[in-house]
Amino acid sequence: MNVKACIFDLDGVIVDTAVYHFKSWKRLADELGINFTLHDNERLKGVSRMRSLEIVLEIGHQTKTEAEKQELATRKNEWYTEMISKMKPDEVLPGAREFLQQVKNAGIKTALGSASKNAGTILEKTGLIPFFDAIVDGNHVATAKPDPEVFLKGAEALKIEPANCVVFEDAIAGVEAALAGGMKVIGIGSGEILNKADLVVSGLDKMNIDKLNSL
Ligand code: G6P
Ligand code: MG
Repeated sequence: MNVKACIFDLDGVIVDTAVYHFKSWKRLADELGINFTLHDNERLKGVSRMRSLEIVLEIGHQTKTEAEKQELATRKNEWYTEMISKMKPDEVLPGAREFLQQVKNAGIKTALGSASKNAGTILEKTGLIPFFDAIVDGNHVATAKPDPEVFLKGAEALKIEPANCVVFEDAIAGVEAALAGGMKVIGIGSGEILNKADLVVSGLDKMNIDKLNSL
């Protein structure tokens, strides 16, 4: 295919913030008396903050009012933002910065397509803002992955047709979102889990422009 744009998910593709999300959800779950494990945390990948809270509550068989849910999600986010405020450029995943540079050098446009409302802070703390021609995050979309909205908005901001875009994703919901948007998708992680992706690699350190053009 003729690749004109690459759209990247953030958590799990460019930075490993899953550990910070886990620590803060775990703290909230402990306060609520809910047993929340690392295994349960897999279900929260790529999922919005409110949906994540609902999954945690489901695990604990608890129901809360809308107002209580807002308060709980805010509390979790305060702990999470406290942790990411200390992030450093060395927390960028192996090969991510180098691959972003290769893509730019090849004249291919780049966008961020993340569900996180904290994406701007993370990119700023890790020094990655200059690598992106467009940033679309949880503050710009109404529907969550697997809906393709976040990636379609990225393509639109870059003025590139979906058929010429490649998405990089570590979550099943994200792979489905890219395909629903008519884009090619490269899974980051395990081929067994991300079996709908056009290609799966273990990380961006395993990517290069030749693999991109061979899609
Ligand atoms: C990403 C992560 C999810 C997280 C979501 C919302 O998709 O993979 O685990 O829940 O962003 O993040 P936020 O920073 O807005 O709470
Ligand atoms: Mg992700």
